[in-house]
Amino acid sequence: MVKVMFSRVSFVMLSGRFWLVAALACWLGLFSLQCSSPKPSNNANTNGNGNTTPPGVLEQGLALYNTYCVLCHGEGGKGYKADNANALSNPEFLAIASDAFLKAGIVQGRAGTTMSAWGKEFGGPLSDEDVDKLVALIRSWQTKATQDVDSKTIEGVATRAEALYEFNCAQCHGKTGEGGEYMSLNNPVFLSTASDGFLWYSITNGRPGTVMPGFSSKLTPQGINDLVKLIRSWQKDVEKPKPLPERTYVPLVINEGGSEPAFPAEGRFIPVDTVKAERDKGAAMILVDARPPADYIANHIDGAVSIPFYDVAKLTDKLRKDVWIVSYCACPHAESGVVYDHLKKQGFTKIKVLDEGYNDWRDKKYPLKSGPNP
Ligand code: HEC
Ligand code: HEC
Repeated sequence: MVKVMFSRVSFVMLSGRFWLVAALACWLGLFSLQCSSPKPSNNANTNGNGNTTPPGVLEQGLALYNTYCVLCHGEGGKGYKADNANALSNPEFLAIASDAFLKAGIVQGRAGTTMSAWGKEFGGPLSDEDVDKLVALIRSWQTKATQDVDSKTIEGVATRAEALYEFNCAQCHGKTGEGGEYMSLNNPVFLSTASDGFLWYSITNGRPGTVMPGFSSKLTPQGINDLVKLIRSWQKDVEKPKPLPERTYVPLVINEGGSEPAFPAEGRFIPVDTVKAERDKGAAMILVDARPPADYIANHIDGAVSIPFYDVAKLTDKLRKDVWIVSYCACPHAESGVVYDHLKKQGFTKIKVLDEGYNDWRDKKYPLKSGPNP
């Protein structure tokens, strides 16, 4: 690609006529490879990992990414589009994240965070092949050579790092790595795929370009090793996937036949407390859970139906224009926003997004339900 750009620039700089000749040559197909605009899909791609991806895969990976991932992880994996989803293209991340690490993360998600399980066996939309295409796409963003961290052994004492962790890390990652403003560190799927070397490298070098600092000059080598062992001490067994039951869509309307809720006509968002109060008064409404099915089945707002944001076009005919629809997710607005925007385009007018979403409803101890039914 660099070569193509360079040769074009020099053509132009040398003489207009030379460029004309070159263009003619292109047209005749003489330099067909160099002249065609460099679409990733048409060229085999070699990345910082040194691997080559067959043609077409990156384009398909990008289509999947744009459907399912971009709303949180942002274009080109820059991260932080919604919900502080991490930067998947960060050079220090991709230098140490193996394909197996990425794959497990995508298929099984990070339960307890808004990163859903996307694999088919967890009720998600992605086949094994789809996940491989996404991994290839993410891998194509790698710019720093792969670092062999997984064979590194770390000697440390977990308990010695407790104070260090509380002082340096807890404000972002939560008291015991449960996540807070930023990523969780105690997730079983994460810890089953992140080696000690992965943790050590992440803490030592940080993730430049994000708020994750490198600690090589702030902590002693022993301190960093102890932190690795502390994070490791949080590891638990990964739960096996359970077969997911079919979801149902009936009853669709909560308080069917009830009055209309007093929702303002204007504005995209509606507070959790307003929805709860109107519902308790007997107002009719439809609640749409916009998250992937595994999240819905684990727990959803009592009475809500499951319409994952990426399926809303397919499932629009399940909904009704004459009843108020409130969509929600845990992100807190990204996935529910996709549903809202789609319905708006389809001519729905009685639509809202639940402000602060599922987590706010749950934290207020309002009624929840698990399983496949509303
Ligand atoms: C100011 C907030 C902040 C502080 C303080 C902080 N981190 Fe982070 N950390 C982050 C963010 C944000 C990321 C993800 C960055 C990215 O790649 O997008 C991260 C990533 C990580 C990762 C990699 C996780 C993964 O799944 O890839 C580890 C391990 C980690 N931090 C450990 C620590 C430890 C240990 C400390 C304390 C010594 C610490 N962090 C301090 C914000 C912080
Ligand atoms: C609703 C927002 C959201 C969507 C949609 C989403 N993610 Fe995530 N993703 C997150 C968050 C937040 C995290 C960090 C979770 C945590 O706290 O550990 C994450 C973590 C990850 C990780 C693990 C990174 C690490 O260092 O541990 C990978 C890989 C990933 N996402 C890929 C994807 C892919 C691929 C898709 C699309 C199929 C996707 N995500 C869709 C929010 C999202």
